[in-house]
Order: sequence, then C-alpha cells, then structure tokens
Amino acid sequence: MSGFPIRRMRRLRRTPAIRAMRRETRLASDNFIYPLFIVERGDLAGPVSSMPGVSQLKLDDLDREIENILALGLRSVLLFGLPAKKDATGSTGCGDDKIVSQAATRVKGLTDRLVVMADVCLCEYTDHGHCGIVREGVIHNDETLKELAKMSVAHARAGADFVAPSGMMDGMVSAIRRGLDEAGLSDTGIMSYAVKYASSFYGPFREAADSKPAFGDRRSYQMDPANVREALAEAQLDIDEGADIIMVKPALPYLDVVHRVRDAFPQVPLAAYQVSGEYSMMIKAAAANGWLNERDVVIESLTSIKRAGADLIITYFAKDAAGWLRE
Ligand code: PBG
Repeated sequence: MSGFPIRRMRRLRRTPAIRAMRRETRLASDNFIYPLFIVERGDLAGPVSSMPGVSQLKLDDLDREIENILALGLRSVLLFGLPAKKDATGSTGCGDDKIVSQAATRVKGLTDRLVVMADVCLCEYTDHGHCGIVREGVIHNDETLKELAKMSVAHARAGADFVAPSGMMDGMVSAIRRGLDEAGLSDTGIMSYAVKYASSFYGPFREAADSKPAFGDRRSYQMDPANVREALAEAQLDIDEGADIIMVKPALPYLDVVHRVRDAFPQVPLAAYQVSGEYSMMIKAAAANGWLNERDVVIESLTSIKRAGADLIITYFAKDAAGWLRE
C-alpha cells in the first residue's frame, strides 16, 4: 500500500484550492516586527544607501511612518537610535530624553495599537562602536550590565512594551529583569538576542546605525558562526534569566539553528532576525537586476524562516510583505 502508483503526491498539488488547504505554514503580518532607525540630528535623516528602501527618520517623520505602518496592519516596531553625540561609555543612549526613549514616547502618543520594542545596546552610542564598556581594549561584561539595565528602564518608562538587548553580554537578561522590576516595571517584557552570531551579514546595518567597531571585531561576545550546540546553551541561559521572547540572528543562513532552538524550547516564543545583509542582497539581486522576482523571493524566504520554527520575524521587508499578503 506504500508508494507509487497508489501514492501520488501530486494529487495534493493539483489546484490552487487544494494547495491552499494543505499548506502547512502561513505568513501573517501579525508576526512581523519592523525595525526603525531614529536620528537625533535632523540633518542625518534620509535614505540608507546600503539598504535601498530603508530610511533614517527624524522624530517628526514618525507621524507619517506610523500611519503607514498601521494602515498596512503591522503590529510591532523595533526602535534603533542614532544619537547626536557618542562617548566612551555610551551615555548618550541612556536617559528619558535620549533618542530611543523619545521615539518610544512619540509612537505611544500616536497609537496604542503598536507593540513598541526598543533596542538596548551600547554600540550605537559608544565612540568606539563596541557593544560594551571598554577597559584596556577588552569589552567589560559586568560593568556593561549596569548601563544596559539603566537604558532598559529609561526606554520602558518612555513607553516601550519590550526591551530588546542585542549586545550578547553574559547576564544581560537577568540584570535588565532586575532593573525593570526594581523600577516597578514588571510588565515590560524582554525580547533577548539570545543567539546572535558574529555575522558579516550585519554590514549594511552598521552603516545605518553608524555602529562599526573602531578597533577589533565582535567575536569576543557574539557567537562563532560554526556553532550550534552553543546556541542551545545561550537560549537556555536567557530563558532561565527571564527572557519572554528569545531570538536567533541572522535568519536565513541560520535556519538550522532556528529549527534546533525551536525543537529544544517549544514553550518559548522564538523570533528570527532577517538582517540587513539578507535584505540588501535580495533587493539588489532581485529588484536591481531583474534576476529574481523580488516579491516571490521575499515571501519564500519569510515562509522558510517561519517553517524552520520562528514565531516572530524581524524584517526590513515587513511593510512590503504586509502589503503583498493583503492582496
Ligand atoms: C547592535 C545590532 C546589530 C544588529 C542589530 N543590533 C549589529 C551588530 O551587532 O553589529 C544587526 C541588524 C542587521 O544587520 O539588520 N548590537
């Protein structure tokens, strides 16, 4: 009874209706998170040349952008900030009057229908571009934790529903959880970049966020792309420390990791970040040269990320994809 000619797989592919009925993975704009870059200095606003279709926004630009985002039915934004000034400790990222906090307040003032997530990392605010405090050329873990907790409290007070620590410091989730709870912010969630690789696919983002390290690289804190068992340890730690959502990043080159983490921790919401390099490659090869159909490859790649096990997808294609899914 097994095998051809009794079994014909093509029967379930015969018509669009049958294919739709048996489809296992369905994309929904409910699950997309759209990253936004907010600049403190108005003269720095404008298109990001390495990421066609992505712009850096001034606070005032948010009104229109949020209107578009809501009209497309998106549910969530992830805020990154570019301060007017940087210093050695990243102090310009931290405080109620700082750019991401201001942006969170602005978005919340415009709508209560969007989940506001705020990036928590020092690299956009440090003059050396590293994700932590530097002592004699070394990124100091525990000193950085205090700054991350402070930044989280500021963003949460300003209106962020979730803080998203992206710096891969050990203990960052527990330090932030404690900081939030002590400040009476126990309802603020943590989406942790639990499994973040030292990836070359972040190149275009570093232009957008102006966060390229001035010396060295991020390999003493971000993960080696060759490892996957280590990813399970990272995920376990962040869950134990109190992460509400964990993330794997990048997405498409790491689908095996998404899958392994999903299988190992079925009870935890899992996000995957389709990063700037993934975005720019697709745009460039697809749209610019006509070698691929942009819409089809974007939908296919997002579907693959979800099929691998991600519940949430952070993607620069969120607006495009939301529009396409409505047609
Ligand atoms: C900063 C941060 C990075 C990204 C998100 N947060 C860059 C990095 O670690 O160098 C990458 C996002 C992207 O490439 O789209 N900690």
